[in-house]
Amino acid sequence: MKFASPNIRLTADLYPSLTAALFVVIALWLDDQATIALWLDDQLGGSLPFIFCPVKRILRTGSNWIQSKGFTVWFTGLPGSGKSTVSHALYEAFLNLGLKRCELLDGDVVRTHISKGLGFSRTDRDTNILRIGWVAQLLTKHGIPNIVAAISPYRETRKQVRAMVTDGAQPDSFVEVFVKCPLEECMRRDPKGLYKAARKGEVKWVTGVDDPYEEPEDPEIVLDTTVLDVVSEVDILLQYLQSRGLILPGEYFTP
Ligand SMILES: Nc1ncnc2c1ncn2[C@@H]1O[C@H](COP(=O)(O)OP(=O)(O)O)[C@@H](O)[C@H]1O
Ligand SMILES: [Mg+2]
Repeated sequence: MKFASPNIRLTADLYPSLTAALFVVIALWLDDQATIALWLDDQLGGSLPFIFCPVKRILRTGSNWIQSKGFTVWFTGLPGSGKSTVSHALYEAFLNLGLKRCELLDGDVVRTHISKGLGFSRTDRDTNILRIGWVAQLLTKHGIPNIVAAISPYRETRKQVRAMVTDGAQPDSFVEVFVKCPLEECMRRDPKGLYKAARKGEVKWVTGVDDPYEEPEDPEIVLDTTVLDVVSEVDILLQYLQSRGLILPGEYFTP
């Protein structure tokens, strides 16, 4: 005996449409809840209880959480110009903006791993930079925003790295940032005591002293670290990346 009636089949046929409609209703409802929650949080001066922080983070940065485009922000400049300082601040900002995955390659750290044993001759410096460039292009290709902070003193080598990273990716996926600071100021800051050691003759081939630094001719961004502070530097970088659609606008979330 058959139980199937035209009515039952009609309902079964409607299941996909009903499920889709239910999803739309739930999405609209969630969107409403999110808007209300964020409005309430704004009214309270961002002081919704701490327990809501993870929720707030996802609500405020959700778009960057979902979208992730690969690109390389490449900091170049003299030792002591501020590359590590700004790149760490930018990395923090990326996390705060909800970027799920990102990577920071600091030249000093890289030299203790994949470039361990390399010196500071032109050949060794180039090898170091090309290795970092190789990793940067892999990350970019796989949609992972990455930041590189390395003196990278030679124009030609930086050009090669740009070509590597943008090969097969969008042309603006390589952002060269010139961290500009006069040699005298870098020497005054001397965060690692490198210039002092060079003066004493303890180290050789120090960029700016007895090894050349070739300033970028057409970098995407110039940060003069004698004029700007770190917060404005990060703002400039974020605005540029947003204007290129590499990251999405979001709130600079601090719990
Ligand atoms: N506006 C600025 N941006 C970045 N660093 C700055 C700025 N003003 C002063 N500094 C200081 O300059 C030094 C830069 O050191 P660091 O970031 O290690 O340089 P690099 O990585 O280029 O060798 C730090 O001590 C930092 O606090
Ligand atoms: Mg550094």
